[in-house]
Formats: sequence, C-alpha cells, structure tokens
Amino acid sequence: MGAAWEYRGRWALVTGASSGIGEEFVRALARRGMNVVLAARREDRLRALADALRTGFGVETAVVPVDLAKPGAAGVLWLEASDGRVIHLLVNNAGFGLKGRFDELPAERQAEMVKVNCTAPLELAHFAVRDMRPRHEGGIINVASIAGYQPIPLLATYAASKAFVIALSEALAEENRDAGLRVVTLNPGPVATEFQEVAGTVFGSDPPGLRTPGQVVSAALAALEAGGRTVTPGFINRVSTLVVRVAPRGIVVRTAKTIMKKMR
Ligand SMILES: NC(=O)c1ccc[n+]([C@@H]2O[C@H](COP(=O)([O-])OP(=O)(O)OC[C@H]3O[C@@H](n4cnc5c(N)ncnc54)[C@H](OP(=O)(O)O)[C@@H]3O)[C@@H](O)[C@H]2O)c1
Repeated sequence: MGAAWEYRGRWALVTGASSGIGEEFVRALARRGMNVVLAARREDRLRALADALRTGFGVETAVVPVDLAKPGAAGVLWLEASDGRVIHLLVNNAGFGLKGRFDELPAERQAEMVKVNCTAPLELAHFAVRDMRPRHEGGIINVASIAGYQPIPLLATYAASKAFVIALSEALAEENRDAGLRVVTLNPGPVATEFQEVAGTVFGSDPPGLRTPGQVVSAALAALEAGGRTVTPGFINRVSTLVVRVAPRGIVVRTAKTIMKKMR
C-alpha cells in the first residue's frame, strides 16, 4: 500500500461532525495530531467541539456550517474547506434515515436523504479524488451501513441510499488504488447515537451487534492505516452481511420487514 499512513499535521474534512460517529471521528483524528475541518448544520456544536479539540490536542480546526441537502452545498463546502489547506482525509459521514412506509413518508424528505447520503458524498469524493490523485496520496472514508447489504421494507430509501454508498465506495477503492489513494467503506451495525431519534428506529433493548461510536471509528482508522477497503465492526454484523448475500432474496427481504415491524 506504499508509505505508512501519516495523520500528524495534516488536514481532514469530516461531515456530520456535530454528533455521534462524526463527532467521534474528529476526536480520534485530533488525538492522532490531525487538523480537522468540521462540517454539519449545527454551528454552535461544531464551534464548541472545535474549541475543545484545539485546547485538548493542540491541533488546528476550521468550522463550515452547511446543509448538505441543498443543491451545490458540497461544492461550497469543499471550496471553503480546501481554501489554503490540503485535505488529506475526507470522511463522508453525514447521513440520516427515516422509518416508515414509503408512501407515507414525505417524498421531499426522502429526496433530501438521497442528497445528504448519496449526492453529497459523491460530489465531495469527486473533488477529493481530483485533488489527491496528482499527489499520489490521500484517503477517503465513506460511512455506509450494514443496512446497505439488503433491501429493507419500512426503511426502503435509507437502505437503498447505503447500497449506493457501498457500490460507489468499493469501486472508487479499486479505481484509485494504483494511484496511491486509500478508500475505506465503513459499514456500522447499530450504534447508539442521535440517528435513532431522527430515523424513528429507537432500540427496545440493546440490539445484537451494538457497537459504540469509539469502537466503530477505531475499526475504520485501523483499516485506513492497514490499506483495507471495507470494514464492518462487530462479528454479528459481519456474519449478517455474509448471510444476506447467500440466502434467498425473498426470505431476506421478508425477514428484514419482520425485524423493522418489531422496532418501536
Ligand atoms: N447510528 C447507527 O446505528 C448507524 C448505523 C449505520 C450507519 N450509520 C451512519 O453513520 C453516519 C453518522 O450517523 P450517526 O449515527 O452518527 O447519527 P447522528 O448522531 O444523527 O449524526 C448525523 C450527522 O449528520 C449530520 N447531518 C444530518 N443531516 C445533515 C445535512 N442536511 N447537512 C449536513 N449535515 C447533516 C448531523 O449534523 P446536523 O444535524 O448538525 O446537520 C450529524 O452530525 C450516517 O451516515 C449514518 O447513516 C449509523
């Protein structure tokens, strides 16, 4: 995979940095000496976190408030983030889900989900790859989900959006490997964050495969350092992504619906 991965003194751009897995990413990167550009909509949270990183770890930070559901937002974000900085690592993490019957959920909100979960990562990855290829180094971590391995009734658009991220990310890993770039697809299983409240998928009790944001981020960074392509933290989560690829599709989709119906 070429030279060892180096964090210290370099810049990362992390989307969805205001909570959950994204917040954990910026803390873990700053702990390793990386400067971080934090992006999300809630500017107050980003600023508080950026201040804490500067004092706690002595790194540089920048904050870019952005709504990635808005047309052109990813382009503006990239321009601001890379103004006077070389972005060495892009973490495409911002995303959300919505539980409910497809026809009962607002189409507009589902289209916004596709923009945040798919279009924005695509556009940001495009800017990043074009910048990184001539330098023959750089990394991208795309946060997908085990939800992207099969269709999920009552979570249809979210699962489809994550299937898109997996397919795009794995292809980019192969396309850019010879150019010295590292592209990691991160597939978390359940992680207790604000995601459940936003999506309406609140856990009744701890679900199988539950991981903390810290465990998920450590696994992703270990894969980045080792030149790995795909990481699915947690044994049960890895088994589930294997089973759904070999089991008959009808059974897989019916089982997914039963699980979703049981969720509060
Ligand atoms: N938690 C899980 O169980 C789980 C499992 C598999 C995959 N994932 C994936 O992990 C990623 C992070 O989710 P999380 O669990 O950390 O959830 P979270 O705590 O709700 O964080 C989501 C982040 O995305 C940002 N975001 C949402 N809409 C946005 C928009 N329109 N523009 C810009 N930023 C936006 C939010 O910031 P603002 O609200 O401040 O904009 C927040 O920082 C997502 O891609 C999610 O699909 C999560």
